[in-house]
Amino acid sequence: MGRKRLLVVGGTGYLGQHLLQEFSKIDGKPYDLALAFTYRSNPPQLLLDAIPPVLSFHVDLQIGEGFDSISKIFGQPDVVVNCAAISIPRACEKDPVAAMATNVPCSLVKWLSCFGNSNTLLIHLSTDQVYEGEKSFYKEEDETDPVNIYGMSKVAAEQFISANWSNFAILRSSIIYGPQTIAPVSKSLPIQWIDSVLSQDDEVEFFNDEFRTPIYVKDVVKIILALTERWISDGKQMQLLLNVGGRDRVSRLQMAEAVAAYRGYNTLLIKSVSGSSVTRGVASPADISMDISRLVQTLGITPVSFKDGVRLTLETGGSS
Ligand SMILES: NC(=O)c1ccc[n+]([C@@H]2O[C@H](COP(=O)([O-])OP(=O)(O)OC[C@H]3O[C@@H](n4cnc5c(N)ncnc54)[C@H](OP(=O)(O)O)[C@@H]3O)[C@@H](O)[C@H]2O)c1
Repeated sequence: MGRKRLLVVGGTGYLGQHLLQEFSKIDGKPYDLALAFTYRSNPPQLLLDAIPPVLSFHVDLQIGEGFDSISKIFGQPDVVVNCAAISIPRACEKDPVAAMATNVPCSLVKWLSCFGNSNTLLIHLSTDQVYEGEKSFYKEEDETDPVNIYGMSKVAAEQFISANWSNFAILRSSIIYGPQTIAPVSKSLPIQWIDSVLSQDDEVEFFNDEFRTPIYVKDVVKIILALTERWISDGKQMQLLLNVGGRDRVSRLQMAEAVAAYRGYNTLLIKSVSGSSVTRGVASPADISMDISRLVQTLGITPVSFKDGVRLTLETGGSS
């Protein structure tokens, strides 16, 4: 099998760095991989040092700049994983124009179309926030009805990709949690945040009526690796839509309880409240837990339980 090219768009973010770290371990087996990633702010030196040889390119999806040099230096990728987004719902609500321009990958798909074939598999990260949040265990065929701009931009992205690219896997991911990245990201990570507030021995409020199916980051990486291998080994184009969640449906309160149980914190400090008791500057869907049976059947991957994911996250001290 010849050398394959994989490009992570948004490789400096939380998932992007975890992907690059794992993909860099593929060393000629079962295929030889050339790796590249894009960044918008800066290519972090810590990341470049940890995973050589990797090429990095400045790309701004909002204005569609930077793809030409990828064509010239790297060539057409066999696989593109699009992790680039304005991924914080409050930031999307503040600037809907930027959110739509960044999260709907028009310039990326336009660039791929220039190669005149569909030989690139596009793996695109969507979100559980495409669902309204009024029932448990959403299935892929359920109607999408997002309650905020972030969710709307992700629905628009899914529709754009389905209409304009013929070889894709869209992953509707729940909260991704796990160790910190090689070059630490500035946004707060969910388990580490819960751990830090509970360690301060003060009472903290957690929502008892907001449910998610959080997924351990290394399971997301495994899923993307499996899709990559499938495309590289059998070359059959795909049009896949998958819910990507963990094994358990948990409330924010149950997430805190799992961290407290692992650390041995005083559970009396965890105060159970309703999500409706707090104003957050952005609407947050109540229950967007997902049914992941299509994921399990299609790829044969069963994600770890939330309890095990918390242990795996904290036993490393929260770092990679
Ligand atoms: N993390 C989660 O819990 C979660 C849950 C569900 C879905 N998702 C989705 O999964 C994907 C990856 O999430 P993440 O947590 O890794 O996101 P992240 O840490 O916020 O990283 C976002 C990435 O997008 C890049 N980016 C931002 N604006 C850009 C622009 N205009 N042009 C080009 N690149 C731009 C950033 O580059 P710079 O850092 O260089 O600025 C960064 O590499 C996103 O689509 C997100 O919506 C994430």
